[in-house]
Amino acid sequence: MSNDTVLTPDAHLAETATQPRLRIRGVGRDFQTRAGTTRAVSGVDLDIERGEFVALIGRSGCGKTTLLRMIGGLLAPTAGSIEVDGRHLWRNGRVEPSAVTRLGFVFQESNLFPWFSVLDNIALPLKLRGMGKTERRARAAELADLVGLQGFERSYPRELSGGMRQRAAIARSLSTEPDLLLMDEPFGALDALTRERMNLELQRIVLQTTSTVVFVTHDIPEAVFLADRVVHMTPRPGRIRQILTVPDAKPRDIELQTTPGFNDIVRSLRHDLDEEE
Ligand SMILES: Nc1ncnc2c1ncn2[C@@H]1O[C@H](COP(=O)(O)OP(=O)(O)OP(=O)(O)O)[C@@H](O)[C@H]1O
Ligand SMILES: [Mg+2]
Repeated sequence: MSNDTVLTPDAHLAETATQPRLRIRGVGRDFQTRAGTTRAVSGVDLDIERGEFVALIGRSGCGKTTLLRMIGGLLAPTAGSIEVDGRHLWRNGRVEPSAVTRLGFVFQESNLFPWFSVLDNIALPLKLRGMGKTERRARAAELADLVGLQGFERSYPRELSGGMRQRAAIARSLSTEPDLLLMDEPFGALDALTRERMNLELQRIVLQTTSTVVFVTHDIPEAVFLADRVVHMTPRPGRIRQILTVPDAKPRDIELQTTPGFNDIVRSLRHDLDEEE
């Protein structure tokens, strides 16, 4: 479909059913700094299907966050194009609002508002959309249940553990029923056991919501456990080096991590990351 084709709403829906959710073509991002130009991301081509879970891995500085911010409409690419359901997300360095409406973001730090309760934090995006108080509180309570925070709705962020805060942030990001969920190292600050539990929780939540997910992590087993495909990026400039498909059906059990197939994929990715040194 060319940029200027005008479609009726029905025609647009019919068209999107066969398209990837995200079509990333030749995407690049340069930053001008005092030291010169940093080519943070270069020549990225990637299609992501609806309902797919894609993990992005790679060394620090290889452009993962930069790519996520471009997909999320927070940072304009300096090259290439990103289409969401066939709509161009960026036009002349500006984001096209109709292409970003159903988007959720979870960052490494949970970014909850300390003066709001868990429930009010989860309900905030709904309030910003003008939903009435009763309705949004009911919806926020459902989401608190979904992420296992029942009983903590009235707590404040400082009264929660790191894992609970991340769960509240995930609930908040789900409140607007995003079609596309972008997560930038959401579990980076958690201990190994909490992280494993959060991986299972996230898998369960995502399977219930049918969201498409792009998930950045430094943890290779976490990437392989959660993802349908693992995208390995290399730095300077940030490019895709390889894309591995994880064939195991979902939901996956944590025991999967002890199987030879799982460990072969982890070992192969680790080997390729090591080679970059
Ligand atoms: N606003 C900016 N201005 C200048 N350079 C930037 C900016 N943002 C990112 N960069 C540069 O772009 C490159 C990619 O950064 P990015 O944050 O995307 O990496 P990353 O893969 O997310 O790393 P990490 O794993 O450490 O989070 C780095 O070299 C970084 O210095
Ligand atoms: Mg980053």
